[in-house]
Amino acid sequence: MDERELLRTVPIFSELSDADIASLARLSSRRRYPKDTVVFFENEEGDFFFMIVEGRIKVTILGDDGREVILSVLGQGDFFGEMALLDNEPRSATAIAVEDTELLSLNRHDFQSVLADNRSIMSALIKVLAARIRKANHQISTLALLDVYGRVARVVVDMARDEGRRLKDGRIAFRRATHQEIANRIGTTRETVTRMLKDLERQGMLHIEGKEIVVQPDFEKVFD
Ligand code: CMP
Repeated sequence: MDERELLRTVPIFSELSDADIASLARLSSRRRYPKDTVVFFENEEGDFFFMIVEGRIKVTILGDDGREVILSVLGQGDFFGEMALLDNEPRSATAIAVEDTELLSLNRHDFQSVLADNRSIMSALIKVLAARIRKANHQISTLALLDVYGRVARVVVDMARDEGRRLKDGRIAFRRATHQEIANRIGTTRETVTRMLKDLERQGMLHIEGKEIVVQPDFEKVFD
């Protein structure tokens, strides 16, 4: 795909005219990031806005002791790196490719002029930021109100909702995140996640099938 076709797949640009997409394509650069590459670190100065063409980016905060909290995992069509450009503060989190990933980037100046020239992008961007605050609020309530068993169950519900595909028999299948990744989303240890998932599997609430987790259709009702 050329840059213009790629930009068409980014939802915040969906209302741009062909001419605007073509000029955006000229301004953006395309680059591959192999699995585990850091795109940027928290607290660095930020001069670029990124869009995900292919792959997945983990947005994370790293503690001094090597522990990490995963704020979000973003996928194809999502963008990141806008905050430092909007408020002129340093990067609020670290961005790491969790699989081989391809990104398009725009520099600060071009990002700002694209925003200034297109009201549709500005309102689409605000909508996404609102959705991110909703999700963050959900995450805060998960961490503050649920015990660790409830947190594991809720993260499974969230992954099924965000990434799941429905099988013919009605069950929902989704990518099997590593136990460490789940632990880092909900502030617990890998061992605890392993124990809780085994527990849920024993109760027949979920099944591990190869690279996927499969849950019963009513899993959500039981735990949400
Ligand atoms: P910036 O602060 O420039 O660099 C880190 C980026 O991570 C940030 O911009 C956002 O694009 C993204 N980000 C930060 N917090 C969240 C969150 N809670 N959910 C999704 N993305 C986030």
